[in-house]
Amino acid sequence: MKAIVCSAYGPASDLQLLDIPVPEPGPKQVLVRVQVASVNFPDTLIIQGKYQFKPAPPFTPGGELAGSIVSVGAEVTHLKPGDKVVALSIFGAFAEQVVVDAQLVAALPAELSDAELEIAGSMTMTHGTSLHALKDRARAQPGETLLVLGAAGGVGLAAVELGKLMGLRVIAAASTAEKLAIARAHGADELIDYSSEDLRERIKALTGGRGVDIVYDPVGGQYTEPALRSVGWRGRHLVVGFAAGDIPQIPINLILLKGSAMLGVFWGEFVRREPELNAGNMAQLFDWLRQGKIHPLISARYPLAEAPKALEALQARTVTGKVVVIPGA
Ligand SMILES: NC(=O)c1ccc[n+]([C@@H]2O[C@H](COP(=O)([O-])OP(=O)(O)OC[C@H]3O[C@@H](n4cnc5c(N)ncnc54)[C@H](OP(=O)(O)O)[C@@H]3O)[C@@H](O)[C@H]2O)c1
Repeated sequence: MKAIVCSAYGPASDLQLLDIPVPEPGPKQVLVRVQVASVNFPDTLIIQGKYQFKPAPPFTPGGELAGSIVSVGAEVTHLKPGDKVVALSIFGAFAEQVVVDAQLVAALPAELSDAELEIAGSMTMTHGTSLHALKDRARAQPGETLLVLGAAGGVGLAAVELGKLMGLRVIAAASTAEKLAIARAHGADELIDYSSEDLRERIKALTGGRGVDIVYDPVGGQYTEPALRSVGWRGRHLVVGFAAGDIPQIPINLILLKGSAMLGVFWGEFVRREPELNAGNMAQLFDWLRQGKIHPLISARYPLAEAPKALEALQARTVTGKVVVIPGA
């Protein structure tokens, strides 16, 4: 089968499209034919050996997918060949077929169209992370104000539309007018261009000096401290990621002064440790999708051979919503 292979940690341009043997599922695993592999920021880190999880090269990147079951291991009872599924592979999905742990695979309704399967495969990680962050970590309440940094990116845009659906007043912050227009189309009430406007001053003006209740921060770098300084009394700052590269060093007196909290969000670990709660969140997300209450954006589709270009687009900060890789294209 064809697969993208990382032979040594390094840039996306070093990845190769190779013919490799179809992997065999172990007793608790399944083999899935990949219809769509979704591209997420952690994929750009894994190939460089910079992610929490470091598979030994050679390996195939690609952490999330949708497709259909080809075969199941001897101990797998809840899935069968032909089932349409979404799966978290951590790595391996930029390929025609991938082996995944059965506990990280969820069956989808058989009647799903190809287009719906594509959306399902592109939203598990982004919307799963943002719902977990807002609901389980920040315990967001209707009427509260939410500031989303990187608001047109994968997890950011998911936070915008989920925040709006949960009854929050959403302030979207991003680096271009085009990105802000996308955040607006997904429900943002207020917009801040943090490449040209002062984040703190704009938040003060938009909240009458009160500050925001929740910050959703997948960006880090230079934005984290002004965002934390902009939370109001009992505010919550969600630490989601560091797409800007630098992990900020924060003076913790800022947390004391507002009676506030910085809350870590680690969705992958949440899925492993609290599978029932995650299954409830996923059921909620797919219900909202069916009811047309959320509209996950797929802004570009790449054939398998161009998966490295998809990763480069993410690193170049040019992606909006999600980009996906289609092995069958
Ligand atoms: N904690 C978790 O469980 C979890 C789960 C999934 C992802 N994450 C993390 O969340 C972050 C975002 O992931 P994603 O998949 O949503 O990525 P994404 O689609 O690339 O979005 C990241 C956003 O960060 C902003 N950004 C600022 N500086 C950047 C830079 N130097 N390079 C790239 N982007 C930059 C960009 O928005 P502007 O141009 O508007 O600033 C971009 O839209 C990553 O750090 C990822 O590892 C965490």
